[in-house]
Amino acid sequence: MTVASLTPDQPIGVFDSGIGGLTVVKEIKRLLPNENLIYFGDTGRVPYGNKSKSTIIDYSLQITRFLESKGVKLVVIACNTATAHALDAVRKSTSLPVIGVVDPGARAAAEKTKSKRVGVIGTVGTINSKAYEKALHKLSADLEVFGQAAPLFVPLVEEGWFTHPATSLIIREYLKPLENHRIDTLVLGCTHYPLLKTAIDRELFSSITLIDSGEEVAKDVRTVLAKHHLLNPAKRTESYRYFVSDLNFRFKELGRMFLDEPFDQVTLVEWPS
Ligand code: DGL
Repeated sequence: MTVASLTPDQPIGVFDSGIGGLTVVKEIKRLLPNENLIYFGDTGRVPYGNKSKSTIIDYSLQITRFLESKGVKLVVIACNTATAHALDAVRKSTSLPVIGVVDPGARAAAEKTKSKRVGVIGTVGTINSKAYEKALHKLSADLEVFGQAAPLFVPLVEEGWFTHPATSLIIREYLKPLENHRIDTLVLGCTHYPLLKTAIDRELFSSITLIDSGEEVAKDVRTVLAKHHLLNPAKRTESYRYFVSDLNFRFKELGRMFLDEPFDQVTLVEWPS
């Protein structure tokens, strides 16, 4: 399939290691309400944050094929870890436009920083890959980038501990070193972290700007669709379809939290073995 044969009413495909990528869906829905959307959350194999690059590439290619089979016009990798490890492989595997979360977040941070000192937080996989650092240096070689893995933030969000004293303590523990590096901009480089925005804001110097990759991704989706004349001008029916690889007992509750609306029309995908 070539980009020229795509049509505006085809859905946008979005995938993540689990349910956290719904933070990106929420932003796409807000900015592009006419778009149809298909989401795949790999709830059967989450977390990706501590898995190897080759495993994440395999998973990402498999999910991209699934989204292609559903007729999407564009693929969004909503997962920071999957973007960090598999964006190039996914782009090579498909003729569809592919948007990851790292470049849009890096671009927003490079535009915002005045001190040229940027912090990035993410999973161990994202931080070790140095994907944000590379993307930021491509935009501006004189930026100083300080990465910090913050793996405990994911379970804290999933527990809904947004105002718990333990969360404040852990935020301080992870973020004080970044503050000491005198950053003025901090990239929230993980699907879950936007939900900790208020808590992080409370603990950090007020002069530090937080960058939510999800918001930036939605803007990139609009730009890429416009470039290919694929923006859907009007919506005939409400069409958001959600697929997961495991219907675990918390998916509805978590989905509602990340999406900010009910999350119950979900289909289980069983991969052929
Ligand atoms: N979705 C992942 C990310 O944005 C976080 C959860 C996981 O480790 O799979 O990096």
